[in-house]
Parts: sequence; structure tokens; C-alpha cells
Amino acid sequence: MTPPPSPLVTFARVSLGYGEFTVLRDIDLRVMPGQVVAMMGGSGSGKTTLLRAVTGQLRAQSGDIAVFGQDMAGLRGEPLREIRQRMGVLFQGGALFTDLNVFENVAFPLREHTCISEGQILEKVLDKLQAVGLRHAAHLRISEISGGMARRVALARAVVLEPELILYDEPFAGLDPISLGITAQLIRTMTDQLGCASILITHDVAESFAIADQVYLIGQGRLIAQGTPAQLSAAQDDYLQQFLQGRPDGPIGFHYPQTPAFDRWLTTQRGLA
Ligand SMILES: Nc1ncnc2c1ncn2[C@@H]1O[C@H](COP(=O)(O)OP(=O)(O)OP(=O)(O)O)[C@@H](O)[C@H]1O
Ligand SMILES: [Mg+2]
Repeated sequence: MTPPPSPLVTFARVSLGYGEFTVLRDIDLRVMPGQVVAMMGGSGSGKTTLLRAVTGQLRAQSGDIAVFGQDMAGLRGEPLREIRQRMGVLFQGGALFTDLNVFENVAFPLREHTCISEGQILEKVLDKLQAVGLRHAAHLRISEISGGMARRVALARAVVLEPELILYDEPFAGLDPISLGITAQLIRTMTDQLGCASILITHDVAESFAIADQVYLIGQGRLIAQGTPAQLSAAQDDYLQQFLQGRPDGPIGFHYPQTPAFDRWLTTQRGLA
């Protein structure tokens, strides 16, 4: 009998924030191999903050974070670098190197982190560009490709080291509906083909519900809901339904919350005026 698979990422009662400011409290979550897990929430709710905690850029204020079975709290230097090499990250905005062409952008992580031959780099990069439909764009400069194509190049770059875990921060931002659907399907097929797991950070309900195994919704500084897309669609929660239906009225506030840091800043400004 094969043992049950271990989670790739586990958060147990995790609080995250910056200095005195706590963005999220008491977060429990789990990402299993093979899963696409969508993290949803309004702007400023803490999605990118969560991603930074998975990559170890941000430490938990309290609670425990384990990635690939390792406790992230004490991890620094080489062991942290090794963990990061097992992850692919598509950063918000997906910045490409504009002075390199498409091919060199995707080849970059291979040159940085492996010692494989030029021949192997060529084959691997063309293979990943093929997967995102851009094999024949390998020679183009970044200034010569569209925004949607750039997103796909960034996707190919994020998976070129064949990571066990891929983190996508807003991969759909600024894409037209067709590119958006294609990108979402690519995330699903990449996950299935590589046998990895994907954490998908997005506002886009329809596309993420179409491809995700599990969905987490954060807001008001906490985890509001979690479940399969079908479970969440059926749940009776005002916040959840407001988010899913994109209604402007409801418990989700539009205004950034007032903090002591703002009050101090305003007092200083008024003192100067
Ligand atoms: N480096 C930082 N230092 C201090 N506060 C930060 C920092 N980065 C983010 N924040 C704050 O943390 C909160 C969550 O930000 P985060 O970037 O995680 O939101 P988000 O859900 O990714 O939003 P968006 O959908 O707009 O990308 C915000 O209130 C933001 O102001
Ligand atoms: Mg963000």
C-alpha cells in the first residue's frame, strides 16, 4: 500500500503582516500534490502577502508554515535557497527582462541554477515555449510581443525548472477573455503534466473556479471560506456571495482601513501645514 501523499504547503494558525500591521490572522491551509489551489480575495486583502510567506520572503508573525515538509520559521541561507529552487513563481506583473529575447528570458533560470549544456537548454526552452504556444516566437524581442504573449513567456519561465510547486500571482491581469481562458487551461495542464501543484492568486472567479480543485477566500483579515468550487458556489455567506457575484454593495468594504501609522502620518502632515 502506498502511503498517502504529504502536503506540499501547510499553514497552521498563521498570522502575517508587516511590522505592527497584521494583514491576515489565523490562516489554516493545505496544498496537496497535483492540486490547483486558488487564493481569492479583494485588492489589498493579503494575497501577495500569503505568497511571500510561502516563498519565505516573509516570516509568520505567529503560527507554523511548512513547505515541502520543512518548517519555514528557521530557514535561511542555503536550505532556503534549495526550497525556493523547487518552486516556480510568476510574480504580479510578471516582469520579463526587456534586454533579452523570448528564448533568453525562459533560459535564464536554467543558466542561473543548472549546469546543463547549451544543447539541452535549447531543447528544454523550446519544449516549454511549445507548451505555451510560443515556440516560433523564441527569437522575438520582448518589445515585439503582446501583453498576453508576455504573460505566457513568463509562465514558460516559471515552469522551466520543472518545479514541484508553482505560484502564480494574478496571471490573468490585463488579458482579453480568450487569452485569459487559454492561460487558465495552461495552468491546469502544466500542473497535470508536470505532476506539481499550483497556487493561483486571482480575482477572477469564473476562470479559477473552472480549473481549481480547492478555493480559499480571504477578506477582513481572515480566511472567509474554503472548499471546492461547487461547495463555495452553494454556500450561503454574504461576503462570499458578494465576492462571487461581484456586487458593489455588501460586507466587503472599498476603503483601506485606518491604522495607527496613518494617524501618525496625518498628525505630522497637519503639523507641517
Ligand atoms: N512591504 C509591505 N510593507 C507594508 N505593508 C505592506 C507591504 N506589502 C503589502 N502591504 C500591505 O498589506 C496589505 C495586503 O497587501 P497585498 O499586496 O498582500 O494585497 P493583495 O491581496 O495582493 O492585493 P492586490 O489584489 O491589489 O494585489 C495591504 O494593506 C498592503 O498595504
Ligand atoms: Mg497582490
